[in-house]
Amino acid sequence: MFDDRVFSGVQPTGNLHLGNYLGAIKNWVGLQKDYETIYCIVDLHAITVPQKPENLKVATQEVAACLIASGIDVNSSILFNQSQVPQHAELAWLFNCVARLGWLNRMTQFKEKAGKNRENATVGLYAYPTLMAADILAYKATHVPVGDDQKQHLELTRDIAMAFNSMFGESFFPLPEPIIKKTAARIMSLRDGASKMSKSETSDYSRINLNDEDDLISQKIKKAKTDSEPLPDNIKALEERPEARNLIGMYASLTNQSENTVLLEFSGYGFGKFKPLLAECVINTISPIRNEMNRILSDKAELNRILVDGAEKAASIADPILASCKRVIGFVQSVE
Ligand code: TRP
Repeated sequence: MFDDRVFSGVQPTGNLHLGNYLGAIKNWVGLQKDYETIYCIVDLHAITVPQKPENLKVATQEVAACLIASGIDVNSSILFNQSQVPQHAELAWLFNCVARLGWLNRMTQFKEKAGKNRENATVGLYAYPTLMAADILAYKATHVPVGDDQKQHLELTRDIAMAFNSMFGESFFPLPEPIIKKTAARIMSLRDGASKMSKSETSDYSRINLNDEDDLISQKIKKAKTDSEPLPDNIKALEERPEARNLIGMYASLTNQSENTVLLEFSGYGFGKFKPLLAECVINTISPIRNEMNRILSDKAELNRILVDGAEKAASIADPILASCKRVIGFVQSVE
């Protein structure tokens, strides 16, 4: 079927927004036609920081529903939550015995997340990247779509794969390549064009949530911070206007056009005229996803069944790979 295998993971966080959709999810959907695709909701990663059990469950189901509603086809992709496939955690242990403290000490995400109170961070938060390497290599994935913030973890995954290969057999693991989107849709806050759209920003008006009703979406776009200049005819002229640039980027990404093409169409428009057109585009994209998400979430038993099914398919790939790791390491097991 396909030569190349994509693996990617997403944290089960509630409140998915347009930035998550345009930045990652839409890309995952598109990859299905060119690759074998395995998508994982990384609940084991989530518990590296404290989680409330009820929230974790709901967030996992919401992310699953959102992925399916957005176009992840569970008949062609494998979709599951990480904790249902124990091979991830087991391979992560093997990698804990390959990766070096020095490598993990360089990880900027740990430094940021642990903050000043490093003594109080969980061991899991520190070992986060070896679990991520296990996620990817348990399937011998060749390609990994990642955002900028995860590039360093993917580099570490390659280092682990190389170290394992030189210890136990060249070319055991492929070295996974990043897939970095050419038209990087970096969606910024509607209140501040310099910071990323985020679920943790206090003002709800800074983001479009995937479950916002149409009226609220229009309101939020109407209130989005802009300036009083008309739109120029090229993207260079927007360098000093981050809020304007963000709205153009959003429109471009939603309509699969380049920013320059969008500007050619709208140059000379003021925001009073442009914003309602943008709102219409956002609503056209989000409203079917929102409705489908709600439909999927109304039958949790069926949704859980989909994840169990995905986990079984995932395990059937990961299990023989893990078994062969164990064999080359020298563990006694029934499969020789
Ligand atoms: N660490 C990734 C993030 O926070 C999520 C993730 C976990 C992941 N395992 C992965 C991404 C494997 C790609 C491949 O976004």
